[in-house]
Amino acid sequence: QTRYLRDLAADPRAGGSLEPVREKLASFVGADPDEIVLTRSTTEGMKIFCRGLDLQPGDEILMSSHEHPGGYGSWRAREDRDGIIVRTVDIPAPPESADQVIDICEAAITTKTRVLVVSYPIFVTGLLMPIKGLAEMAHRHGVLISVDGAHALGMLDLQLHDSGVDHFSTAGQKWLLAGSGTGLAYFKRDVQEQVWGDMWRRTDRNEEGARKYEVSGQRHIPSARGMGDAVDFQLAIGKQNIQARVQTLANQLKTGLHEIPGVGIGTSGSAEMSGGLTTFFIDGIPKANTQKALMDREHIYIPGSSLNDFACRVSTHFYNTPNEVDRVLSVVRHIAENRSAYSTAV
Ligand SMILES: Cc1ncc(COP(=O)(O)O)c(C=O)c1O
Repeated sequence: QTRYLRDLAADPRAGGSLEPVREKLASFVGADPDEIVLTRSTTEGMKIFCRGLDLQPGDEILMSSHEHPGGYGSWRAREDRDGIIVRTVDIPAPPESADQVIDICEAAITTKTRVLVVSYPIFVTGLLMPIKGLAEMAHRHGVLISVDGAHALGMLDLQLHDSGVDHFSTAGQKWLLAGSGTGLAYFKRDVQEQVWGDMWRRTDRNEEGARKYEVSGQRHIPSARGMGDAVDFQLAIGKQNIQARVQTLANQLKTGLHEIPGVGIGTSGSAEMSGGLTTFFIDGIPKANTQKALMDREHIYIPGSSLNDFACRVSTHFYNTPNEVDRVLSVVRHIAENRSAYSTAV
């Protein structure tokens, strides 16, 4: 990004086409360039889909109760403005199986349901919603599926065509390690006929594919181009290697947490349903105390999770080490063994 910023400062014509970035990203996520929108955030990609669909008052949107405001906010706005109805469904943390999740969602679908909105992974629990099975189920009911995959790009080996989902939105600045203000959204070819762009274009919209959703005036070209370099970096390591490393570290963490009395884990133990986000809680210990102890003792920052009053979330990326996971575990063990020192809110 810095390199492209310098190029642009030296020569304002150096912006260049973003098509090579689109092509690179499309191949990275298992999609076609015509299905990729270069966005500025996950939220933007969720919004374009939501606002572009024709919906009638009374139409229902079904989502998990653990969606992020960036994923549900635009649907709630349409609820206020257009009289659509947003319904939520509780997913156990963790669920017993992918089939259980699919059954829970299927039972909540009605004749009014138009879109199923889920995260992959859910930021509260780290659960990888079984999007392929959910897509098959949703399509059987004539329902579209839109996925908030903010954390997925750069964490998981995404194959979007194979997943069957209609729409997927993700960020560049998270696990892909690209600059801030970057993201991509996928619009499956045949869903583009149902989703309006919000700017008039001189060209034939259908020929443009998902580019028709990309019109928002001048953009920060260096950060968008930097996404291409972030992809190259990950490809040099290997997408499957990254996913395997992320999951191995997360498993090390979950195995260690299981062995500490009084510690609960909100994330599934199954490789199919969990990636690099792990949510745990030490019963009775306010999350802020756990966060503070980790910072004070090991200088490790972890965010809280809204799963409950005690829950925190650990992210394990490929550059983290088994030793760092052990350091997290040693602090959690220390807190669990010295509960009285940590149980009063700080
Ligand atoms: C699940 C989820 N969705 C959406 C967002 C918003 O992401 P962005 O800032 O890329 O819009 C986040 C941010 O952390 C998130 O965790």
